[in-house]
Amino acid sequence: MQLFENLKRVFTKEPYNAQQAQEMAHLYSWGAVIFQVCRLLIKYGILDLLNDHREGLTQNEIARAAGLSDYAAKCLLESALTTHIVLIDTETDKYFLAKTGWFLLRDAMIRADIDFNHDVNYEGWFVLDKALEQGQPAGLKHFGDWPTIYEGLSSLPEQVQKSWFGFDHYYSDHSFDEALAIIHANNTRHLLDVGGNTGRFAMRCVASNPTIEVTICDLPQQIKMMKQATDGQPGSERIHGVRMNILDESVAFPTDTRYDVIWMSQFLDCFSEQQIVSILRRAAAVLDSNNRIYIMETLWDRQDYVPAAMSLTMTSLYFTALANGNSKMYNTDDLTRLIQQAGLEIEQIYDRIGNGGHSILVCKK
Ligand SMILES: C[S@@+](CC[C@H](N)C(=O)[O-])C[C@H]1O[C@@H](n2cnc3c(N)ncnc32)[C@H](O)[C@@H]1O
Repeated sequence: MQLFENLKRVFTKEPYNAQQAQEMAHLYSWGAVIFQVCRLLIKYGILDLLNDHREGLTQNEIARAAGLSDYAAKCLLESALTTHIVLIDTETDKYFLAKTGWFLLRDAMIRADIDFNHDVNYEGWFVLDKALEQGQPAGLKHFGDWPTIYEGLSSLPEQVQKSWFGFDHYYSDHSFDEALAIIHANNTRHLLDVGGNTGRFAMRCVASNPTIEVTICDLPQQIKMMKQATDGQPGSERIHGVRMNILDESVAFPTDTRYDVIWMSQFLDCFSEQQIVSILRRAAAVLDSNNRIYIMETLWDRQDYVPAAMSLTMTSLYFTALANGNSKMYNTDDLTRLIQQAGLEIEQIYDRIGNGGHSILVCKK
């Protein structure tokens, strides 16, 4: 397995002494409720309050400001204390924000992950074992009877949709500028955005280049949402939509025009290995020697930091329990093998795109 240097150092030898290892195991065993404590400290504004009151606040002051009973505030604060989210001054009995509490409050990635895990995944995790055993998204059933989450995205409850899109956008948006610089540097005239979702990338693409045309292909429900989101926006006349279920093997990639770049951002992770080979084979069929497929993915082995790699391997389990039961966040070895099986070769890899460890794999025939 290829691993970026930092990961190699920590994943190839035991990182903890016995006491630390036992502490971690205890944390994991209470992980479900620690997660809820973190979420509620944010929801009730307790972390915000402590951040605003660096001089500290008593439990009673916190309870009153948060609109909670003394009992509720005490339970939350004591569990926050024992998990190092807050600190206490034993002379004054005042609580203070600890560093971990500050990150829970201010780290945008952590906030997107918390909302995603609570609103989209939490109930689904309960049947993760069924999903793993059956290769079916068993945790999706309580939302609706769709084969995958993608058919249901536009009909999910509002808050669930908000958190799904918040997560999806967080992990793509900040990489778009660097990705676009690479795309524009190659004089791209027409780009096919496969799985372009609500058109956020397409809008940035037309806004950053006055002549480029973008065609998005996605499921019919998403093309409808994309039209609603882009209509009337500057450059939207250069964004086109094609309704396409890519899992229908009889469906070929559009050949109405010659696409210089076939763009797949956070797309292939939505599919099983077999499905990826089929998608890439059909994409390869419309390539000539001058155009390229650009695959942007967050490959978990190409991360510099353990939390990034951990978030990605955990996201795989969202795919298992909620999304489709058979896809994941891939690593370099797996994706390379699938690309080659589809008759393609990787010409270049750009790493550390955006602030989230995205990679762009440029593939040619
Ligand atoms: C994780 S989102 C990525 C969206 C966007 N490209 C980005 O980078 O944020 C995956 C996209 O693939 C689309 N998709 C999933 N299954 C599909 C299918 N069977 N056919 C076409 N599009 C599909 C979804 O609708 C969604 O827009």
